[in-house]
Amino acid sequence: MSVNASRKKTTTATIRAMKGREKIVSLTAYDFVTAKLVDEAGVHLILVGDSLGMVVLGYDSTLPVTMADMLHHTAAVARSKPKALLITDMPFMSYQRGVDHAVKNAGRFVQEAGAEGVKLEGGSPRMAEKITAIVEAGIPVLGHIGLTPQSVLELGGYKIQGKTEETAKRLLDEAKRVENAGAFAIVLECVPAELAKTISEALRIPTIGIGAGPHCDGQIQVINDMLGLATWPTFKHVKRFASVGDAMRTAVAAYHDEVQSGKFPTAEQSF
Ligand code: KIV
Repeated sequence: MSVNASRKKTTTATIRAMKGREKIVSLTAYDFVTAKLVDEAGVHLILVGDSLGMVVLGYDSTLPVTMADMLHHTAAVARSKPKALLITDMPFMSYQRGVDHAVKNAGRFVQEAGAEGVKLEGGSPRMAEKITAIVEAGIPVLGHIGLTPQSVLELGGYKIQGKTEETAKRLLDEAKRVENAGAFAIVLECVPAELAKTISEALRIPTIGIGAGPHCDGQIQVINDMLGLATWPTFKHVKRFASVGDAMRTAVAAYHDEVQSGKFPTAEQSF
């Protein structure tokens, strides 16, 4: 059922104010139609994730995703005029080079594609400088720490982060740094549930978890995974809420059979 008609526009202030009151529901979307459906279901935050590199464009990682890819898909999602807050991912190498470069590219997402904020990965002191500069330019920033897929080469694979006392402490420090830099919320990806709880309790801004257990202030999933629209093995943290891939296969096979047998089209579909 659509809950959209009476819904107010979600802003970063709405998301901040939800901490401790109501769980934040976030989902990725990469195109106009999906964004409309996701928005009509009442999701609070739509992320045009650079996961699109893997789930839409067929790359093995998010590393090949370009500014052009992200601008193109962000603009398509923005045309759905969502009530949800629309955040887009800054792709690999669009913000790593320096503060000015990061601010310039963040600005392009707002001016050219209609994004209402950007997400960038990492919580180092150098990343914090970029977050502060982007926020000072008037562009909201969603942080992202833990398993940061753009650093997959450096991390040595897609692994749970913060499992030792030392790495857990580092992640807590990073989370505080991202908050102090001015992010309005932070994604925690693939960290132990207890660590996510500690971080969530230590921050004033909301945490949005993916593979980070139930204690975060909200959750985010990659839409293809939760819809069962993945042709690849998914992670332990994914729950399948539908079998859209199976439904597509069945429908296309029926179409194939009916075209070949002459059952489709009939007079009903003819002029
Ligand atoms: O790219 C993406 O979809 C993401 C989410 C998994 C948080 O970063």
